[in-house]
Amino acid sequence: MIVLARRRFLLGTGLWAASTALGCRSASAPAITSVTRRSVSRVLAGMPTKDGAGVQLSRVIGQPALRNLDPFIMLDRFHSDEPGAYIRGFPDHPHRGFETVTVMLDGNMRHKDSRGNSGLITGGGSQWMTAGRGIVHSEMPEQDRGLMSGYQLWVNLPAKEKMCPQFYQDLAPSAIAESVLATGAGRVRVISGDVNGLTGPVRTRPTQPVVATAFLEDDRPFEVETPTEHAAFVFVGSGEVDIGAENAETIVSTGSIAVLGPGERIRMRARMRSDVLIAAGKPLREPIAQRGPFVMNTEAEIAKAWEDYRAGVLDKG
Ligand code: CO
Repeated sequence: MIVLARRRFLLGTGLWAASTALGCRSASAPAITSVTRRSVSRVLAGMPTKDGAGVQLSRVIGQPALRNLDPFIMLDRFHSDEPGAYIRGFPDHPHRGFETVTVMLDGNMRHKDSRGNSGLITGGGSQWMTAGRGIVHSEMPEQDRGLMSGYQLWVNLPAKEKMCPQFYQDLAPSAIAESVLATGAGRVRVISGDVNGLTGPVRTRPTQPVVATAFLEDDRPFEVETPTEHAAFVFVGSGEVDIGAENAETIVSTGSIAVLGPGERIRMRARMRSDVLIAAGKPLREPIAQRGPFVMNTEAEIAKAWEDYRAGVLDKG
């Protein structure tokens, strides 16, 4: 798995070479050779907030200025080496109707749920939890000092799968598909979906999500192919990155999300050592009723979720 995942493949300059080769044919067949790069439609800084039992985090998707980015419901960024910012964690709380993706860059988080599942998410690892019909769980730091850094991303489920059985994929750091970039100056780690031929370990999901982190060591461009109509964003965890087609880039700095327009490729060029979270997914285009930890299609379904939670049967069935 690791040997396979660490193979070199066409990324960065490799893609640049491929597009140049395609460009040579454009005079005779322009219709099939133009490659569209996504432009940045919005840049937005995360909003400082607290959640759980007082964890300080930055809410990126899910804040008033960006309620959601169908199929993504929420993106939280946590990054602190102050224990007071994270030590109280996220004690027991419910979820229904969507999937939570925890991406740990540094630190350790212990996960326990109402059905007896438990796991440790460690730095470089991830957890993909399909809450489905319901789960009550806790997410608590398993450290009392040091850096805790990562993301939690909420991915919606279509109406017909909102009440599906719960499902977990606990992904150790070694389970994430990793490759150095073609230039050798950086690496990409794919949790879900396909990044230029490198496939992440998450099972096939209805929204076909791509979730990956990339560490960009120099200013050579890095491109990621995505289905044109899928929603996509890049969040800059550190550094500063130009995003968009050459000569039409937008500068995105640490702590900000770039919401991207349609296009076949996401193009990034780091202005300094940078790391990013990259995500794309198929919009569901269904009504969203979101109240706290529940994401359904109607208010009646939200009311039913609270009723089931209070009755202790949220996760039963
Ligand atoms: Co949770």
